[in-house]
Amino acid sequence: MLLGINIDHVATLRNARGENDPDVIDAAKICISAGANGITAHLREDRRHIKDNDVYSLKNDLKCRLNLEMAATDEMQKIALDLLPNACCIVPERRQEVTTEGGLDVYSNIEYMKNFVKPLLNSNIEVSLFITPDTEQIKAAAEIGVQFVELHTGAYSRAFGSVDEQTEFNRLKNAAELGQNLGLKINAGHGLNYNNVHRMHEIKVINELNIGHSIISKAIFIGLDNAVNEMLKLVRL
Ligand code: PXP
Repeated sequence: MLLGINIDHVATLRNARGENDPDVIDAAKICISAGANGITAHLREDRRHIKDNDVYSLKNDLKCRLNLEMAATDEMQKIALDLLPNACCIVPERRQEVTTEGGLDVYSNIEYMKNFVKPLLNSNIEVSLFITPDTEQIKAAAEIGVQFVELHTGAYSRAFGSVDEQTEFNRLKNAAELGQNLGLKINAGHGLNYNNVHRMHEIKVINELNIGHSIISKAIFIGLDNAVNEMLKLVRL
């Protein structure tokens, strides 16, 4: 399994003081030299963490594999077509949320999503739709023409260690297998940490995990390169 590291919360910490410490690009460099397969950054509409300059520096200075998370808006589409990241993960966005709480409702917006992703695909950007592991959303995603879905692992992560863990895990596994049967490549992420990530190996069809908060949190105690290395050991078992 591949590991993409979401560095949004390095930017959260930086923005707390409004200057350039810690430097997002330096953090990304450490992640890549520790062996991560790529960097994920979410350019939110309110720019609460990652800023426009960050994504341009990640693309142009670092030249690592860049996965741009973004909402399905005209503003973001324009930026993506100018930036040309390796991949775009389309996510829902609500200003009041603390983090990306749900998945995209592809099922109710099939025509909009088809038109939205077309220019991105035509520019050779890989496109992924962030969805909850629901049958109707997977089937809808398979109609859009994108290569990837990213399955929202938040419910599994929250349920880990509780009586609901197996139910949430089964939902993820069934959705992943259905997606693969429908021709989609499967990524997953959100809420994964050092305790709960190991079960992702039971879902053989997963291509890549995108993990952020737990790695950046651990980095405070053991350093970013060690935190990435520890996660890589679990992801690349
Ligand atoms: N994947 C997507 C689509 C996300 O929106 C996020 C959170 O920004 C992540 C993965 C990473 O989640 P976490 O920070 O909980 O590891």
